[in-house]
Amino acid sequence: MTTFQGQRIVLGVCGGVAAYKAIELCRKLVDAGAFVSVVMTRSSKEFVGEATFSALSSEPVWSSLFHERDAIPHTRLGQAADLVLVAPATARLISAYATGYSHDLLTNVLLATRAPVVICPAMHTEMWEHPSVQDNLSVLARRGVHVVEPEEGRLAGGDVGSGRLASSESILGEAQRVLSLSPKSNTTDNSDRAVQSEREHPGSLEGLQVLVTAGGTREPIDPVRYIGNRSSGKQGHALAEEALHRGALVTLITTAQIATSAAITAVSVETAQQMHDAVMSRSEAADVIVMAAAVADFAPTQVAAEKLKKRDGTPVFEMHPTVDILAALGSCKPKGQTLVGFAAETNNVRENAQRKLQEKQVDILVVNDVAAPGVGFEFDTNEVAILSAAAQDRVVPLTDKRSVAAAVLDAVVSTRSAQASVPSSGE
Ligand code: CTP
Repeated sequence: MTTFQGQRIVLGVCGGVAAYKAIELCRKLVDAGAFVSVVMTRSSKEFVGEATFSALSSEPVWSSLFHERDAIPHTRLGQAADLVLVAPATARLISAYATGYSHDLLTNVLLATRAPVVICPAMHTEMWEHPSVQDNLSVLARRGVHVVEPEEGRLAGGDVGSGRLASSESILGEAQRVLSLSPKSNTTDNSDRAVQSEREHPGSLEGLQVLVTAGGTREPIDPVRYIGNRSSGKQGHALAEEALHRGALVTLITTAQIATSAAITAVSVETAQQMHDAVMSRSEAADVIVMAAAVADFAPTQVAAEKLKKRDGTPVFEMHPTVDILAALGSCKPKGQTLVGFAAETNNVRENAQRKLQEKQVDILVVNDVAAPGVGFEFDTNEVAILSAAAQDRVVPLTDKRSVAAAVLDAVVSTRSAQASVPSSGE
């Protein structure tokens, strides 16, 4: 995994009682060989002093947009950074960042950077749970900002609840993971990594980027209603957790409200179009993509701006087809990428699945007969057949979804080893 050695990290510190914990983060980053530029907000100085940070980072602290050392510090700091880490992040910082309100140096740096950003909120439980804070975080997460959620514990004033800054281990673990995702760190060829990782740990996905989708998309009709499906997202979430367990760097694009491990980058979406955009913008970097989501095939052409009223009569909806994300991925699959599709069928199960395997140009297709008892949607169990373009089919009898996930990822590992050992034409 990428180390901090030689990485340029902007450490943003906001005003909160957890600001003192940023001192430990700064020290650990410097000890690990990172170049740390500390950017403090004005109110953070009510909690900790500049001198501590500048002594640790061997660099004067930055806090003003207008600096005698540098006429435009926000662009220089933003452009030079490999990572921007904000810990603690207050509700105000999160709100300003989500809305693009650049009122101080830290918010300017956040808007001026193209480096990955990790923010670590810390605040009182009531504030943390407030819908405006959660909405702002969803907006940021949708834009690819990584959020290290706070933990339960003692808060300012002796209160106890969720909102305490995550541990420095969790924060630095996420920072390291995010740095390893950035292009600078991904210099090894995909197939080399597959062979190397499989040699080191059978069944392992160590260091591979795995993108998983989960849940049923919801297509709005009006502000309160949508057309949806019965998918719970449990199978996709189990796949993401199993991939993480096997050492992968996991991004989960999901419609489900299921808690995930902190090390998974979870992106929340609702509609087929949002899922399409979220997948396509991340697909090129992925070594493995698993489309477990139940994506709507049609969406209403018009979404009413106001709630449809009974008195206006029975509505008739015109629908348009959505983009088939899996087929789009299959048609432009980069060399070395493994693509896995799912199929939920109720009749002619194998025939339909075989057709989807070929038509969508996927490497593996996992099919379940959702009409069978205990299988698929909403259940904690599943029974699948794993069809593969290159290997033997495998049936996984009724079992829990984590075990199904393990069988699917075993098939991914076998497929990748088989592909990596076949020399490409011209060699
Ligand atoms: N899929 C997709 N985009 C869509 C529809 C489906 O990426 N707009 C993906 C699903 O995530 C799944 C696979 O395609 O991995 C098969 O989905 P399924 O609903 O079983 O099949 P469809 O292609 O939608 O065909 P049909 O509904 O006619 O069976």
